[in-house]
Amino acid sequence: MPMLAGTCGVVVRRRGTRGREDGDMELRDVITGRRSVRKYSKRKVGQAKVRRLQKALQIAPTAGNRQNFQFIFVTDEQKRRQIAAKAGHQEFLFDAPLIVAAVCKPGAEFDVAIAIDHMILVATDEGLGSCWIGWFERGPVRRILGIPRSEAVAILVTVGYAAETPKARPRKPLAELIATDAYRKSAPK
Ligand SMILES: Cc1cc2nc3c(=O)[nH]c(=O)nc-3n(C[C@H](O)[C@H](O)[C@H](O)COP(=O)(O)O)c2cc1C
Repeated sequence: MPMLAGTCGVVVRRRGTRGREDGDMELRDVITGRRSVRKYSKRKVGQAKVRRLQKALQIAPTAGNRQNFQFIFVTDEQKRRQIAAKAGHQEFLFDAPLIVAAVCKPGAEFDVAIAIDHMILVATDEGLGSCWIGWFERGPVRRILGIPRSEAVAILVTVGYAAETPKARPRKPLAELIATDAYRKSAPK
């Protein structure tokens, strides 16, 4: 099978090739097929997949290649329960067998977002569901995970096997999102 490139488990195949195995999706299918998953089965994520998620975080670009972040992979049941209790009524956090907490130096949040998106795309390619979690109490999560005050608690991500097939959520039309050559002040025609 001709391959164009392959990094972090995302195999980019020539257009027209077909087939679906874990770690073998076309990149554009990974991007368009990703959904926020809020229901998970109890099945644990295997070490080989976890390793590929970690590699995706590692290879992401950062400003000045500083890599001023740390990703805490939380599988411990008690800690996941404690974290879930500090994320409003989002009980699905506990159902997910893995929570990734992204921690960074203040100002490195863009770097975190890029790395997390890489990881989420690889998770999708691996047949895993995931969800960004921005709505949680930073202080308690900092204490649960022993994160020092010098670090920002940027984001959490749930990862696991989906127990639902979420529909695509609507997006604004491109005409609203894109401008050409200068900021568009008025509504698009
Ligand atoms: C920075 C960020 C924070 C988010 N926080 C939450 C959250 O706390 N809880 C949740 O259920 N979804 C959260 N989401 C998921 C969004 O609701 C979701 O991406 C959006 O509705 C589009 O749906 P889709 O991801 O399925 O395309 C977050 C997404 C991002 C990018």
